[in-house]
Amino acid sequence: MAVQSVGVIGAGQMGNGIAHVFALAGYDVLLNDISAEAMQAAVATIDKNLDRQVSRGKVSAEDKAAAMARIRTTTDMADIGATDLVIEAATEREDVKNKIFESVLPHLKPETILTSNTSSISITRLASRTDRPEKFMGFHFMNPVPVMQLVELIRGIATNEDTYQTLVGVVASLGKTAASAEDFPAFIVNRILVPMMNEAVYVLYEGVGNVRSIDESMKLGANHPMGPLELADFIGLDTCLAIMNVLHDGLADTKYRPCPLLVKYVEAGWLGRKTGRGFYDYRGETPVPTR
Ligand SMILES: NC(=O)c1ccc[n+]([C@@H]2O[C@H](COP(=O)([O-])OP(=O)(O)OC[C@H]3O[C@@H](n4cnc5c(N)ncnc54)[C@H](O)[C@@H]3O)[C@@H](O)[C@H]2O)c1
Repeated sequence: MAVQSVGVIGAGQMGNGIAHVFALAGYDVLLNDISAEAMQAAVATIDKNLDRQVSRGKVSAEDKAAAMARIRTTTDMADIGATDLVIEAATEREDVKNKIFESVLPHLKPETILTSNTSSISITRLASRTDRPEKFMGFHFMNPVPVMQLVELIRGIATNEDTYQTLVGVVASLGKTAASAEDFPAFIVNRILVPMMNEAVYVLYEGVGNVRSIDESMKLGANHPMGPLELADFIGLDTCLAIMNVLHDGLADTKYRPCPLLVKYVEAGWLGRKTGRGFYDYRGETPVPTR
């Protein structure tokens, strides 16, 4: 099926990135969030990030203007339902996602493909709560969306070939590369990446290293472009914890036990960059380790 319009639900760091790349690729984008502030902030962020691409010569000023003109915000689920492809990119909580699907389902066109950008939650289970498990898929973008090349495509048990092939085509139209993952907790990238970050938090918790030495060690010793704690702050510590909980519950293996120190940071509301504080404090000129 031909996709021309896209509805993005959740205008946080992933939602704004997804809206950005779709608009730049020529799709009409409708962006929704429960928070009007988040929607405004998302549009401002897209504008700023496109400006950066223009100044680096990656995007022309005309293409930027055209992309911005293709993005609209809405609080009305009927608008979202009228699009060809819906991408849910709200908070990583299954109850939140189920509620969103419940509210959009009555408005969907029969042919609309419904997807979730979830990092870890079972696609089959999310799909089973909708009226269209055969047209439901995991559509997992990486952060920051305008920069990262990969998109994981996750088929639920009922997803049909047509839906899968449509999304393969959509990913190609964005200039990105699709990787298929089976529907098991956290799929491929986060199954490997997030336990590594959780282990880094254990190393901090046990006093083996401090924030700076852990990040420096992995950057200089393993050639990682970002240290694991810096990366956890970038992703959002609430999201990291949610993914560890999904792995722990879904695979029932103690090796996925979330580090108590990660839990403590989340309880404190120190969620990383997005709240100004996590393993680093971002409120000053340069990030300062909090441990
Ligand atoms: N952060 C990452 O690196 C990353 C990478 C890939 C995928 N993801 C996934 O993307 C999703 C969003 O993550 P994020 O990092 O953008 O989170 P975020 O906290 O930046 O944004 C979440 C947004 O969802 C909104 N929201 C909450 N309930 C809503 C509702 N009922 N209706 C509409 N909007 C609602 C919030 O207001 C917020 O603006 C999660 O499923 C996450 O697992 C995150």
